[in-house]
Amino acid sequence: MVHVEDRGFQFADSVYEVMRTYNGKLFAAEEHVARLFRSLSAIGLEHRLTAKELIGIAEEAVRRAAFTEAMVYLQVTRGVAKRHRGASARIAPTVVITVRELHRPPAAQWEKGLSCITVADNRWGRCDIKTVALLANVLAYHAAQKTGANDAIFIGADETVAEATAGNIFIVARGELRTPPKSPRLLSGITRDKLLEAARDAGIPCAERTVTKVELLAADEVFLSSTTNEVVPVTVVDGQKIGTGKPGPVARGVYERFLMMFTRL
Ligand code: PDD
Repeated sequence: MVHVEDRGFQFADSVYEVMRTYNGKLFAAEEHVARLFRSLSAIGLEHRLTAKELIGIAEEAVRRAAFTEAMVYLQVTRGVAKRHRGASARIAPTVVITVRELHRPPAAQWEKGLSCITVADNRWGRCDIKTVALLANVLAYHAAQKTGANDAIFIGADETVAEATAGNIFIVARGELRTPPKSPRLLSGITRDKLLEAARDAGIPCAERTVTKVELLAADEVFLSSTTNEVVPVTVVDGQKIGTGKPGPVARGVYERFLMMFTRL
């Protein structure tokens, strides 16, 4: 049960993480918990949680849920208090962990790829904080679905690409794998970091650099990355074919290297 006066419920005064397992073991748990601590510190949420304790609880939750593969949702709110903008530092944070069974996206998605629309990035200036205040992401996703597309890609006022509604974005241009640099305009994905590592290991030239909307539409390949969906090719943006209109070899190569390096499948 969530208290009606939980600040997470009333103000989205709350941050979260999504982790997953491979072969029943939590993947990159230290990195996820480190990011959670960065989010907590960014919103000035004082707590006595330790990384060891949180990872221990998450591992125990995974063990008890006993799914073949699982996703772990971990949320911390500032706690329960009479509704007022200001919060007393004395209230205790609410900590929630849930575990769900996790299945790979259907193989057909890899055959076809996603269709995305671009939308103006109307989010706030701290998209690097993993906050549950995801209304703009929800509305962008709904806007995509309404046009028959699968997802939306946020484009800044300067016509550069930020990320998708629930994942980071990569493009392939002139044989180079590019992804927008870490900044307050996007959530720095753990999968993004691991994919860059995998791509470099595979000898693919990589660049963390600004990607314009024009470069996105002209790219040879586009794909999204996230913990739950791993790598998802995008074959249509704003109704235009990307490259050949089929998932490309770089996306597949990086994905296969990622699986080999980090999941031992
Ligand atoms: N979302 N950008 C946004 C806006 C995200 O919501 C996510 C992940 C990412 C990718 O981060 P990572 O690779 O660390 O999962 C980027 C999670 C999965 C979610 O909200 O369900």
